Amino acid sequence: MRTRNKYRKPTILGCNAGSRYSTSVVVLSLLGCLILLHLYTYIHHTDRTGGQSQLRLNHHPQFIELQEVEEENIQIPPPKGKRSPRAAKRRPKRTTTLIDEFLDENSQLRHVFFPGHKKTIDPIQTPANESYYYYPGRIWLDTDGNPIQAHGGGIVYDKKSRTYYWYGEYKDGPTYQVHKKGAARVDIIGVGCYSSKDLWTWKHEGIVLAADETNETHDLHTSNVLERPKVIYNERTGKYVMWMHIDDANYTKAAAGVAISDTPDGPFDYLGSQRPHGYESRDMTVFKDDDGTAYLIYSSEDNSELHIGPLTEDYLNVTSVMRRILVGQHREAPALFKHEGTYYMITSGCTGWAPNEALAHAAESILGPWETIGNPCIGGNKMFRLTTFFAQSTFVLPLPGFPGSFIFMADRWNPADLRDSRYVWLPMIVAGPVDHPLEYSFEFPLWSRVSIYWHRKWRLPHGSSGF
Ligand SMILES: *[C@@H]1O[C@H](CO)[C@@H](O)[C@H](O)[C@H]1NC(C)=O
Ligand SMILES: *[C@@H]1O[C@H](CO)[C@@H](O)[C@H](O)[C@H]1NC(C)=O
Ligand SMILES: *[C@@H]1O[C@H](CO)[C@@H](O)[C@H](O)[C@H]1NC(C)=O
Ligand SMILES: *[C@@H]1O[C@H](CO)[C@@H](O)[C@H](O)[C@H]1NC(C)=O
Repeated sequence: MRTRNKYRKPTILGCNAGSRYSTSVVVLSLLGCLILLHLYTYIHHTDRTGGQSQLRLNHHPQFIELQEVEEENIQIPPPKGKRSPRAAKRRPKRTTTLIDEFLDENSQLRHVFFPGHKKTIDPIQTPANESYYYYPGRIWLDTDGNPIQAHGGGIVYDKKSRTYYWYGEYKDGPTYQVHKKGAARVDIIGVGCYSSKDLWTWKHEGIVLAADETNETHDLHTSNVLERPKVIYNERTGKYVMWMHIDDANYTKAAAGVAISDTPDGPFDYLGSQRPHGYESRDMTVFKDDDGTAYLIYSSEDNSELHIGPLTEDYLNVTSVMRRILVGQHREAPALFKHEGTYYMITSGCTGWAPNEALAHAAESILGPWETIGNPCIGGNKMFRLTTFFAQSTFVLPLPGFPGSFIFMADRWNPADLRDSRYVWLPMIVAGPVDHPLEYSFEFPLWSRVSIYWHRKWRLPHGSSGF
């Protein structure tokens, strides 16, 4: 066609015979434009969603190590001896699964889930510099040699002292049930605080918000529930603000409490609790955005949905703005983070102390809409991935200096002895395409994949956290 046109006499205005020629030119250039646009959005998009950071991370030998898929092959032993009532009640007739074994206090696999259980203290946990390894699920000791008590916790980096502060439930008391149908519980003792320069060596700073042992009408009375304390720093007021789930033993109060301190290591003054926006609030977290606006995110309406709304400038109250998100999805244990302008969140299902499948969600705007992008867990075995490695999300900490890399923090609850619940921290990387993209822009997904890699032991790459 082109050759034919080449020998055609040019006609005025390119009409007549030339019209076919110009049509194909128009079609071709349109095609070219589309291809260019596609290429542009692709490049633009990979940039925005972490293509670059993946490149950077992929070239870092220690990150290659962290992204290696580590398999677990655990054989379920034949049933023998008596099952604890907790496991027997759960699945009376069907074949046992790893979850049954996990919930069975008499399981022969107990040491797999709770290694170093009871008396033994693992020598690897000695804070010697050679052993800056995290062992998810083992007993973690503080610098005094005591097991760390910071369950359902979160971390704040204090710029002034260049120190990380880890806050969580101090549960070093006996586990019991108030009545037959009640959940296993430990009386409120308070919020434990630990400090660290390297995210590995943790010094106990004491109980920074303590239970009230005498006043039965006080939120913090020992008979109540204090869960998932999270602290954020307010640059405007110079105060450290703690939000937490406050409840009665039957979880009918469903409120959010707030406390305040001048210093990260407390003591925190308790200011009170409320049902935010007038709604039930159970599992919750707070998230501070780059612009200094902080948000409260909580499970509501019988845990069937999450609510999210900005806090006031002093972080001490909610505002009138609130959005319902993940409606009808029954998620709890939210942990929010942000990567290259996109908001991400990990949540768990609602199965009490028993572990379940984690899901990652993403949003362009923090108030939503939020899309569910799938199970982020990689490695272990199928049951590990379907139980968040037998743990439940609590917090996500960005690794400074390594964009797109995070520490995923989770709790491996031990319902038989809650004080002996373990920490499961794992490397999390946000990069690459999602498995089942739900939302497309020019046929390219809006979000990156969130990947949490199972490791029996791992350590932070050099350069992060002041190593
Ligand atoms: C620990 O660190 C010190 C000083 O940083 C060094 O001299 C020593 O060899 C290290 N020990 C181990 C076991 O790596
Ligand atoms: C007990 O706690 C309630 C609620 O915080 C408070 O109003 C009351 O003053 C407290 N009572 C005493 C004796 O401190
Ligand atoms: C919790 O529920 C039990 C049984 O329904 C009841 O006996 C108890 O009084 C309740 N406790 C609180 C603090 O509501
Ligand atoms: C929090 O804000 C609500 C209105 O959004 C208000 O009714 C309430 O009194 C405030 N609480 C405190 C402790 O300031």
